[in-house]
Amino acid sequence: MNKDGSKFIIQGLAGKRRLVGRVRINGAKNDALPALAASLLCRDRLEIENLPIIDDVTSMLDLLTPLGVTVKKITARQFELKAPTKISTKLHSDVAKHLRGAVILTGPILGREGEVTFPHPGGCVIGARPIDAFLDGFRVMGATVREFATGYHLRAPPGGLRGGEIFFKNQTVTGTETLMMTALLARGRTVLKNCASEPEVINLGHFLIRAGAAIRGLGSSTIEVTGGARLRSGQHHYRVIPDRIEAGSFLILGALAGRVVTITHCEPTHLEAVINLLKSMGAIITIDRHTVTVRGGVAPRPLRAINVTTHEYPGFPTDLQALVGVLLTQATGESLIFETIFEGRLSYLHILKEMGATVTVHDPHRATILGPTPLNGRHVYSPDLRAGLAYILAAIVAQGETVVHNVHYVERGYERVEEHLRALGVDIVKVP
Ligand code: EPU
Repeated sequence: MNKDGSKFIIQGLAGKRRLVGRVRINGAKNDALPALAASLLCRDRLEIENLPIIDDVTSMLDLLTPLGVTVKKITARQFELKAPTKISTKLHSDVAKHLRGAVILTGPILGREGEVTFPHPGGCVIGARPIDAFLDGFRVMGATVREFATGYHLRAPPGGLRGGEIFFKNQTVTGTETLMMTALLARGRTVLKNCASEPEVINLGHFLIRAGAAIRGLGSSTIEVTGGARLRSGQHHYRVIPDRIEAGSFLILGALAGRVVTITHCEPTHLEAVINLLKSMGAIITIDRHTVTVRGGVAPRPLRAINVTTHEYPGFPTDLQALVGVLLTQATGESLIFETIFEGRLSYLHILKEMGATVTVHDPHRATILGPTPLNGRHVYSPDLRAGLAYILAAIVAQGETVVHNVHYVERGYERVEEHLRALGVDIVKVP
């Protein structure tokens, strides 16, 4: 992982809407990670297309290679992966403890090899981020779970994992993906209930079905999986879907500081929640197949305050909550943010307050923002990926200079973000 202590120095636009241009949206980080994990289920090579060039993808490859997976780079965004007949059963601690998404590998390793050892999962500090749903699911399939000081060891029963009925107490994206893949390696039928229906879950499921998996109910709350032999990826490439969070981030930036900002190569049907929210605030948005344009205009109407509740897909994504929080500082009136998914995702608001926003944080899930208020540049430290980008947006709209430290967090999930921003007209410099 890139931890070079780089920073961005941004000269703010002092509330002016000046940005103009187009941004090409990359493959989705949160679809790339399950795509790479799916290589463990395939008998033959798996070709993955449209991978984003981000640190989290590199970290996932750094986990797969020591397991025995051979990785061939075809182009910058296209890789071929081939898992050997026998893989190692231990996830590399140093990498896995910084990447929450690594947990997705545990089920396929357990299902294939009958055991897996992995560290306590890491990732962005946005809440407790437990893995009880995964462990409970593995137990239903007959696995025994041993927790030790630094991680876990799971062992399948002597005859291998068996199907069962698993109810997720919370809808979990990675949990649904992991147990869907694990169930393919178990004997008999598995029924997963209260499943996530994010586009990334569905894209993974569609790939698995094309490769021969028996999966029913994708996109609904109940998914049925019939276990069987490993899959034949053969000619069935995995094409990573466009990143709806990257797309939503640039739409929010467009509403905040854009004259005309167009995002291309995106999937507008995955963006309904953010497009509806921005339209309700008064932004002018047009959609044309795989492009979306947001217009602020030279003398734009002020944006209106709005209440935002984060929700599982197709509701408003938690991953865009901090970015919309910045936008609300510039909207007229009082807005309420209700973050329902994670309890650590409002801490960025303390920094917005120090930059000049009128914010009241009521509890770890709810805050009100009264706008519009000018923001002032300062030194800020990215605590995680999405809050890091929120600070960059705040810096763009602020008066004066902002220095955003710890940009390696942002680079985990946003590809060449400073180049995109510069092309739109942001005065941004990266300093090592
Ligand atoms: N949860 C449990 N137990 C579990 C797992 C989850 O209680 O074992 C709870 C969590 O505490 C949370 C809720 O379930 O309250 C949803 O968490 P989920 O498991 O869906 O999150 P995730 O799968 O770990 C993915 C994305 C996140 C995104 C969330 C929510 C990936 C690799 N990550 O995480 O993306 O915020 O879904 O949509 O797909 C990001 O990209 O910045 C990011 C954090």
